[in-house]
Amino acid sequence: MSRTQIKSFTPLLNSRKNNHVLRVPGDKSISHRALLFGGLAQGSTQIWNLLEAEDVKSTASCLKNLGVKIIRNSSSWFVQGVGIDGLQPPKSKLNCGNSGTTLRLLMGVLASQSFETELFGDLSLSKRPMKRISDPLVKMGAQIHLTHGQTAPVQINRPHRPLQAIDYALPIASAQLKSAILLAGLSAEGTTRLLGQIKSRDHTERLLAHFGVRVNQSLNQEGFCESISIQGGQKLEGTEIKVPGDISSAAFWLGLGAMIPCGTIEIHDVLLNPTRTGIIRLLQRMGTSIQFKITSSEPEPSGWIKIEKSDLRGVEIEPSEVPFLIDEIPLIAVLAALAKGTTIVRGAEELRVKETDRLEAVAKNLRAMGGRIELLPDGFIIEGPQSLQGARLESFGDHRIAMAFSIAALAAKGLTEIQESDCVSISYPEFYETLNSVLSQSSSSGDITILDS
Ligand code: S3P
Repeated sequence: MSRTQIKSFTPLLNSRKNNHVLRVPGDKSISHRALLFGGLAQGSTQIWNLLEAEDVKSTASCLKNLGVKIIRNSSSWFVQGVGIDGLQPPKSKLNCGNSGTTLRLLMGVLASQSFETELFGDLSLSKRPMKRISDPLVKMGAQIHLTHGQTAPVQINRPHRPLQAIDYALPIASAQLKSAILLAGLSAEGTTRLLGQIKSRDHTERLLAHFGVRVNQSLNQEGFCESISIQGGQKLEGTEIKVPGDISSAAFWLGLGAMIPCGTIEIHDVLLNPTRTGIIRLLQRMGTSIQFKITSSEPEPSGWIKIEKSDLRGVEIEPSEVPFLIDEIPLIAVLAALAKGTTIVRGAEELRVKETDRLEAVAKNLRAMGGRIELLPDGFIIEGPQSLQGARLESFGDHRIAMAFSIAALAAKGLTEIQESDCVSISYPEFYETLNSVLSQSSSSGDITILDS
C-alpha cells in the first residue's frame, strides 16, 4: 500500500505568470468502448491514445479471455475483431477488477452468447448493484444469476431462445445501464427502445455509430432526445479511433487552476462531449475564468480548455445536471469548501454506489481537514469559504477520492497524508508525476512525496 504526503502550496512570486500546457491520458469511458466494440467488430480496429490504466486493462484482459487479439505497437493498439458471434468460451472466470464499466457492458454482450460465463471483481466491485443491469436483460430472455440476487460474481448461462427486443424505461440515468441494454439489443430479435432517464454520457451511441451501427435517437419538439432505439442483427465494422484526453482527469487540473495561484492551466486534446462537460458549465457558474474550444469532432468533440485562479462562489447543482458531472462531484465538494457562499448538490444518490460511498468518503475527509459539510441522502450542503488543515486522509481505495483530496491538500495549511494513494492507477497512473511537474514550476514548497508502507 502506498501513502502520499502533500505539503500546502506556497506560490513563487512570479508563478501567476506561468502558463502550464498539459495533456491528460485517454478518456476512460471511450477507451473501454473502443476495445470492446473493436472486439465485437468484423475486421481490425486501430486505437490511438488508449488509456493504459487498471480499469481499461481489465476490459482488455476479459476480451483476450474471450478470444479477441489485442496488440500494442509503439504508437497505437490493434484489436482483431471476431464479430459478436465469434467470441469464444473463456478459459477462466472473467476478472473485471475494480471496473464497473467492464462488468456491466460485458453483461450486455454476454447475455446472448451460447456459452456460460462468470464475471467477478474486487471487493469494491462485488458490493456494487448489478440487479439494475440483469433486470432488463432477463426481460429480454437472458439467464443471469447474481450473488444474493444483487451483486457480482455474476453467472450468465446460455439463453433458452434468442434474446427478444424490449421497450424499457430506464429508472436511473446510468450510461453503464443504457449501454448494457443497447449491446444486448444488438443481438436481440426486433428493435430495442430505451425511454425514461436516457440522459447520461452518450459514448455508446456515438461510438456504435462510428463502428457503422445505426442507433436512432428520436427528438421531441424542443429538440431533446426522448428515446433511443437499436435494431438487432446489425454488424460492427472495424475502424480507427483517436481517444481524446479524459475530461474527468482534466477536471483535477481545472480544480487546481481555479483554486490555487499557479498561473494559467491549459489542457489540450481533451474530450468536450456536452454529456461530459458539466464541470466546465459549473466552473463558469462558480465565477471562474474558464474558456474552451472544440477543434475536432471525430469520433467525439474534443479541443482545449484554459483556466486561471478566480474567486469562487457557491452554486446549486440541479439533479438533472448530475449525470453530466457525476465523477467530478468529490472535486466539486473541495471547490465548494473554498468558495464563498452555499453549494447544494441534490440528486446524486448514485455516488453512494460508486467505487466507494463517495458522499461518505467526501464528508469524512473534509471533516478530517476541519471542514464542514451537511450530508444529505442524495448530496450535500457546504457553506464556504472554509480554511482547511492538513490531515491524515483515507482514499478508501477510490481513485477519484485520492485525486480530489490531493488537490484539497494543496489548499490546506500544513501536511496532508493520503492512504492507499496508488489507487490513482485505476484511471490516471501519471497523476502524481503531473502534479509534481506543475508544482515544481509554481511553488516554493508544494512538493509531494510518495511513500511505500
Ligand atoms: C461510465 C458511466 C458513469 C461513470 C463511470 C463510467 C461509463 O456511471 O460514473 O465512471 O463509462 O459508462 P453511470 O453508469 O452511473 O452513468
